[in-house]
Amino acid sequence: MESQGFVEFAGVQKSYDGRTLVIEGLDLSIPKGEFLTMLGPSGSGKTTSLMMLAGFEAPSRGEIRVAGRPIQNVPPHRRNIGMVFQNYALFPHMTIAENLAYPLKVRRMGRAEMEGRVARALDMVQMGALAQRRPSQLSGGQQQRVALARALVFEPDLVLMDEPLGALDKNLREHMQFEIKHLHERLGVTMVYVTHDQAEALTMSDRIAVFNRGRVEQLATPEELYEKPATVFVAGFIGENNRLSGVLADRQGDGGAVRLESGLVVQARVAAGLGAGASVTVSLRPERVRLVPTGEAGGEGLFGHVCELIYLGDHIRVHLADGPAAGLVAKIPNNADHQHVRPGGRYRVEWGPADAIALPVGH
Ligand SMILES: Nc1ncnc2c1ncn2[C@@H]1O[C@H](COP(=O)(O)OP(=O)(O)O)[C@@H](O)[C@H]1O
Ligand SMILES: [Mg+2]
Repeated sequence: MESQGFVEFAGVQKSYDGRTLVIEGLDLSIPKGEFLTMLGPSGSGKTTSLMMLAGFEAPSRGEIRVAGRPIQNVPPHRRNIGMVFQNYALFPHMTIAENLAYPLKVRRMGRAEMEGRVARALDMVQMGALAQRRPSQLSGGQQQRVALARALVFEPDLVLMDEPLGALDKNLREHMQFEIKHLHERLGVTMVYVTHDQAEALTMSDRIAVFNRGRVEQLATPEELYEKPATVFVAGFIGENNRLSGVLADRQGDGGAVRLESGLVVQARVAAGLGAGASVTVSLRPERVRLVPTGEAGGEGLFGHVCELIYLGDHIRVHLADGPAAGLVAKIPNNADHQHVRPGGRYRVEWGPADAIALPVGH
């Protein structure tokens, strides 16, 4: 990543009907060479943002710049943006090689250079042997690879992809995730990738912008999003979490004490901007929960009975009921440690000091 802000969204808003904003105010700076993913539920504004970046839709307010120039001022044929969508729309009457040559013909490239580029692009996605077939003679995965090659064949500076793997089955989708990621690493092109699939986003991205209702709730690396979610929405959308309601009793630096509804006081990391007295939701990942067997007697702590054990192969999913820990879920790795957990048993819920995070209540 050589320079800051190859792609810039500055104060971008979008309304289709002149009344409701579907993008409420987007500021985003994407360095050259980055793989940035826009992740969010359906309707959160990802495609709209990508269409504006491609220059197909105009922002209602604000500006989008690529390499320092407002995209609206660059004529479409000079934009040098490669695009891949879910329905890849190859030309059915052309061979694979002709499909790839098409964007180069449009750019009036000479024949020799064109043939060289097409061959290289097909090799890149391991489709060289099938160059003379037509799209209908290829599987879905092969067609998607051709669509990828066609987006890259004119060596764009920027590649936009909108749910490109949505139509593929799970195994092929996971395989293509790695192929696209490795292609990005080799080519160093700037990628803006849209998906609603959090595992896909975590696998592929340098950074992820989490969209919710037309806003970016958090922009961070995959690890930071998972370990340090800024909001309850982000904590819930990326991975699974247990939520405990409470009030921040005391804050010191990045940590603090939260009084839960049961009266129990627990330690947690505390999100930015929260002071003593704030209502909070404590987020706790199921795989960070430890279950300590206890007798039936009282004592200090968050107690519950195991009401359900679900065997999932690599881990055991444990549901708790009765008492302050009711509703909590724990994921226990499938090794010798899980054998103490039995249905009906009473356990104290514990976790490491960094594993609970207090977040603002709400959205
Ligand atoms: N062409 C359009 N005209 C009117 N409303 C639209 C149009 N495209 C999208 N929308 C609306 O804008 C919002 C965001 O949609 P979209 O950007 O497609 O979200 P996503 O890609 O995250 O699913 C939705 O409420 C959707 O109904
Ligand atoms: Mg979309």
